[in-house]
Amino acid sequence: MHSFRAIPFAVLSFLTTVYGQTFTDCNPLNSTCPPNQALGVANYTIDFTQNTMSDKVWNVTARPINYGDDGAEFTIAEKGQSPTVQSNFFLFFGQVEIIMKPASGQGIVSSMVLQSQDLDEVDWEFIGGNNSYVETNFFSKGNQTDYGNAIWYPIDAPQDSFHNYTLDWSPEKLDWIVNGNIIRTLTYKDAANGLKFPQTPCDVRLGIWAGGDPSQPQGTIDWAGGKTDYDKAPFTMAVKSVRVSDASRGTQYVYGDNTGSYQSIKVLNDTKPLHLDGNNSPSSSQTMSQKWSGLPQTTKYIIIGVVCGVVGLAVIIFGFCCFRQRRAGKHEKLLEDAKYEKMQGEVMAHRMDMNRMRSEHKMMGASSVEHFSPMSPMMGNAGAQYPFPSQASPMIPGRSPNPNGYSNGYAYGGGRGYQKY
Ligand SMILES: *[C@@H]1O[C@H](CO)[C@@H](O)[C@H](O)[C@H]1NC(C)=O
Ligand SMILES: *[C@@H]1O[C@H](CO)[C@@H](O)[C@H](O)[C@H]1NC(C)=O
Ligand SMILES: *[C@@H]1O[C@H](CO)[C@@H](O)[C@H](O)[C@H]1NC(C)=O
Ligand SMILES: *[C@@H]1O[C@H](CO)[C@@H](O)[C@H](O)[C@H]1NC(C)=O
Ligand SMILES: *[C@@H]1O[C@H](CO)[C@@H](O)[C@H](O)[C@H]1NC(C)=O
Ligand SMILES: *[C@@H]1O[C@H](CO)[C@@H](O)[C@H](O)[C@H]1NC(C)=O
Ligand SMILES: *[C@@H]1O[C@H](CO)[C@@H](O)[C@H](O)[C@H]1NC(C)=O
Repeated sequence: MHSFRAIPFAVLSFLTTVYGQTFTDCNPLNSTCPPNQALGVANYTIDFTQNTMSDKVWNVTARPINYGDDGAEFTIAEKGQSPTVQSNFFLFFGQVEIIMKPASGQGIVSSMVLQSQDLDEVDWEFIGGNNSYVETNFFSKGNQTDYGNAIWYPIDAPQDSFHNYTLDWSPEKLDWIVNGNIIRTLTYKDAANGLKFPQTPCDVRLGIWAGGDPSQPQGTIDWAGGKTDYDKAPFTMAVKSVRVSDASRGTQYVYGDNTGSYQSIKVLNDTKPLHLDGNNSPSSSQTMSQKWSGLPQTTKYIIIGVVCGVVGLAVIIFGFCCFRQRRAGKHEKLLEDAKYEKMQGEVMAHRMDMNRMRSEHKMMGASSVEHFSPMSPMMGNAGAQYPFPSQASPMIPGRSPNPNGYSNGYAYGGGRGYQKY
């Protein structure tokens, strides 16, 4: 975003209020400022496909940021949006690795920035209309007339897949690394013998903005690759993960004088360290609703469709089972009534022993009542199985509607009685 630093300051201050990445609350070069909160650890990693940003560690300076399968999604859905975050921690040399995919779209700028309180700065920038280059840039002590540091490098389709953009920063040199390949090295000596070398504790900033918004000056629109066409929105920059290693391992960094040199920075180690999130704390996992809101609209429709389909199908199957079972029940009852009557007839016809007949008759009558009366519509099928606790409750969904199950049930209770004949 700094290629347009040549443009008038009024324009710049407008941009900075939009984007917030080129200003400082307190400049240690001419003020006494509060200390910088140090990251202070060798390996802070946050995977945004699993975790969200805790506001102890990240300051969302422009919303919204959503979370989905691609991690943290910075989306411009309409004019006026420019989702941006900055870390509450500072690193004083070290490494910053960002696995990300910039947004496509003419006039859309995706960027990753290291910035210090005295406005040293290191940039990665992507122009949405250009899917084959990344811009690398740096600034020193907020010198806004020093705009000749940008270099563009060809890289392989950054918008199509996640790449690993790493900065390796020491007092001697700064490397810009893409997927393990160093594309640019700035040495301390080459940067005006250190005078222009970024060397003060920096925070980490990630954001997307519309450099091609029609309200922007022509120079900015041209740099951003042309006017933004909001009809093509949403434009999404996705950050999968961030890993930061702070080489200085302090708890706070303090400017010892107004030179802005790295030798002037005091590394304090006697204050409370920052509470980290990500892998350091499970408390910031993506919630279900964050995961849901992070899903693409089409995926949501598919999920809603599938859920409705499954529920609908369950209702149909349940209804069908009720119908089948009630019919099966009626059928059984008719059969058993017929059997009963047939037996009654046989009994009479064969003139069996009257005493024995009387007792058997009572028994069959009892089992008929026991097993058929629960088949009323009010009881559903639950009653039919009630005497057989070893069997699955019919109220458990997905239970097989196999009518044999019921036949066996009746055979167990009722049939045994008949087998005696
Ligand atoms: C000093 O402070 C003023 C006002 O706070 C600011 O405008 C100016 O840019 C600062 N100077 C430097 C060298 O940062
Ligand atoms: C940093 O931490 C992450 C997550 O805990 C781990 O996967 C990775 O290997 C670590 N890297 C280093 C260099 O220790
Ligand atoms: C977040 O950033 C804004 C803008 O730079 C600043 O005013 C605010 O104090 C920051 N919040 C925290 C918690 O650091
Ligand atoms: C992408 O940017 C590079 C460097 O500025 C330029 O040479 C190239 O023509 C651009 N490609 C497109 C498609 O704009
Ligand atoms: C800013 O950079 C320009 C270009 O290198 C240089 O001429 C100028 O002296 C610098 N300004 C300051 C205040 O260092
Ligand atoms: C990203 O690149 C850096 C520098 O080459 C490397 O150390 C790191 O392991 C890479 N990270 C991943 C996740 O591949
Ligand atoms: C600060 O304390 C930590 C933990 O005790 C230690 O690892 C680190 O080296 C110390 N840093 C400095 C600058 O003393």
